[in-house]
Amino acid sequence: MDEINVKTILSGVQPTGILTIGNYIGAIQNWKLLENEYKCIYPIVDLHSLTVRQDPKQFKDLCISMLAQYLACGLDAKKNILFFQSHVRQHTELAWLLSCHTYLGELSRMTQFKEKSEKHRDNINAGLFTYPILQAADILLYQACKVPVGEDQKQHLELARDIAIRFNNIYGKTFVVPEPHVPQMGARIMSLQEPSNKMSKSDTNINGTIFLLDSDKVTLKKIKRAVTDNKNRISYNDNQLGIKNLMTIYMTLTKESIREIEEKYTDKGYGAFKNDLAEIVVENLRPVREKYAELMDNKDYLVSIYKDGAEKAGEIAENTMKKVRDNIGLIK
Ligand code: AMP
Ligand code: TRP
Repeated sequence: MDEINVKTILSGVQPTGILTIGNYIGAIQNWKLLENEYKCIYPIVDLHSLTVRQDPKQFKDLCISMLAQYLACGLDAKKNILFFQSHVRQHTELAWLLSCHTYLGELSRMTQFKEKSEKHRDNINAGLFTYPILQAADILLYQACKVPVGEDQKQHLELARDIAIRFNNIYGKTFVVPEPHVPQMGARIMSLQEPSNKMSKSDTNINGTIFLLDSDKVTLKKIKRAVTDNKNRISYNDNQLGIKNLMTIYMTLTKESIREIEEKYTDKGYGAFKNDLAEIVVENLRPVREKYAELMDNKDYLVSIYKDGAEKAGEIAENTMKKVRDNIGLIK
């Protein structure tokens, strides 16, 4: 296998909304740590989002917005390959070939399919079912060795591994078998309203979620209203999940240790702590929001980024596809 391939990282995010501070802390901040060490490929997986009905005009805006959000968070387009999945046709081509090597039984075990078909009962389309095959294609196309994903995507990654191993066994070594990437700072940010649940961009209670583009005022209000307890003690433990979560946000944004934070607030109550935290969050998000506005005002620049990304990605993808077509017995 090529040296270059050994060090590829890939992760996809669907363009279906505004990233949360959970995505920022749990995903993007960690991605930034990888950009000097690995070849980092981040497709915006627009085709995956079509498994749920989208309004065409709004969808275009969502896609552009996601690219701008990535860049606004500080992902360097020179060091990371950022592009739209639909611009690199090899994704769908490989997905078909892989679908001929994936069993119905495997797909029907996928919990995301079960959940989504429960949620969208009127639109249980075939794409929803074959979704993990397209995801496997995203990963295998770039010979990614590591895939940063959250808990909920582990099953899909496991399937991608099984498909890669199966394919390699039948046709000879074609794909790198990917592994999940566990981030250095494995912080999981929880809902501000229900701190036993993960903060999510699709939570119906928006007060539990801080979005990257929330105004200062909204962020402040959400943090002040965050659920805590009646102990009024800044301590990092599992009996104070609300405070624990707020401390995690504090720690990851300031890089102060839990011990330091506990000491700093020994004589202070939740009010003072929340005020300080709100200021820290606002100070961190303001430049992101400003950068985002600037980028959204500069569409030509965004176009140049995604075109360039698709070109770079396309080259890598085509290299893999040549090998795949040949190994599988398709005439050149
Ligand atoms: P999602 O928004 O669920 O599609 O996740 C995209 C990426 O962000 C994945 O790598 C997740 O692990 C990460 N992520 C999402 N929500 C959180 C959270 N609340 N805390 C930490 N990481 C998160
Ligand atoms: N299924 C992933 C999600 O919903 C998104 C995704 C698509 C992805 N292709 C990927 C994640 C490849 C990692 C690697 O979050």
